[in-house]
Amino acid sequence: MTPASSAAAGTVHISRVDALEILDSRGRPTLQVAVTLARGARGVAGVPSGASTGSKEATERRDGDRSRYSGLGVLDVLCAVHGEIADLLRSRAWRDLAEIDAALIELDGTPGKARLGANAIVGVSMACACALASAEGRELWDWLTPPGVAPRLPVPHFNVINGGVHASNPLDFQEFMIAPLGAGSLPEAIRAGAEVYGALRDLLAGRGHGTGLGDEGGFAPRLSEPEEVLYLLTAAIDQAGYIAGPGGVAIALDPAASEFRGDGYYTVAGQRLTSADMIERYAEITQRFPVWLIEDGLAEDDWDGWEALTERLGRKIQLVGDDIFVTNPAIIREAISRGVGNAALIKVNQIGTVTETLEAMAICRRGGYAQFVSHRSGETTDTFIADLATGAGCGELKTGAPARGERVAKYNRLLEIAAAEEHLPYGLARD
Ligand code: PGA
Ligand code: ZN
Repeated sequence: MTPASSAAAGTVHISRVDALEILDSRGRPTLQVAVTLARGARGVAGVPSGASTGSKEATERRDGDRSRYSGLGVLDVLCAVHGEIADLLRSRAWRDLAEIDAALIELDGTPGKARLGANAIVGVSMACACALASAEGRELWDWLTPPGVAPRLPVPHFNVINGGVHASNPLDFQEFMIAPLGAGSLPEAIRAGAEVYGALRDLLAGRGHGTGLGDEGGFAPRLSEPEEVLYLLTAAIDQAGYIAGPGGVAIALDPAASEFRGDGYYTVAGQRLTSADMIERYAEITQRFPVWLIEDGLAEDDWDGWEALTERLGRKIQLVGDDIFVTNPAIIREAISRGVGNAALIKVNQIGTVTETLEAMAICRRGGYAQFVSHRSGETTDTFIADLATGAGCGELKTGAPARGERVAKYNRLLEIAAAEEHLPYGLARD
């Protein structure tokens, strides 16, 4: 039984649904969900949480009780999992994950999963996926592979410089990533990421910059101009002994521009810029530096700007929609029809179920859009996304720096899959 295939393998019964309030990597409460099938298979999932969220993301529910965790507790969400959700899941036999996810959506009854909480629903959906895969004795990545899709090990995108809402430095752009596009294998890519990260630390320290870290494990030096960071990053790639560019280690950016747009202008290092100015700036950046991907270069409500950006740079680089598409199948369909961007960021908790996530990825595939699987700034040691990126064969995954346990857990899971499955190719899906 694959995630959405029907009956062939019969039905399953769920006997237990447990949830626990645990901490995420930022010290905030989140959920861990465990689902046990009647025949004993068990799946466990940790729920991630974002900071620079798109306004149309599924709703993350919090207690709002200021006397606990500044209102961020998830005890009410936990009650929903133990109560209504567990009652529903134990009440009948299930054909597949698609049927479970559809029933969860119906039980919630709101468009954004606001009643029960998308954090409850996504945790249950992920844990069910893990339990169903385990019941079949299959690796999660294999079980998640859609029919007709070739799985592959993704290019890890290591976020090595943090800014925006992920750090307290004056850097407006949120993420500066290194992507070993030219590596010959996944282990070589992980090694390149770690070596460049080390070279960057030495370079920053040698120039008197701080080497403290932001939320995703990247350094957070007190720099404000994106070009200055790109210069240092290119130098670090070089010093680590790699070629800076698509044949070696390329650079990817997530400015997360919704966060620095207000009253129609973007503010970068104190300068007020229009959409057209931003596009010009990106065009120059891609000429001067080996930047192969820009995510959320413009804000989520700037669709006209996005159209112009795609017109200008869409043939040269990958333009990924995160806040603007929020892993939402309907929005991605609209984007494809309008020619906005050429890739979608894929975050399971942005839409709230595994089935809808796979649907969003299928729509991208059919529309010729790349899919870039992503962690959140608030993470647990859950490794679901490493399996998702591999199984869906999209060839791209970002999950932070090659440092800090919650980020490294995903990269280590990729290493584990690579070691066990020597036949899996590595690299971008277009190869
Ligand atoms: P978030 O940011 O997880 O804090 O929302 C990640 C991103 O913008 O890609
Ligand atoms: Zn983003």
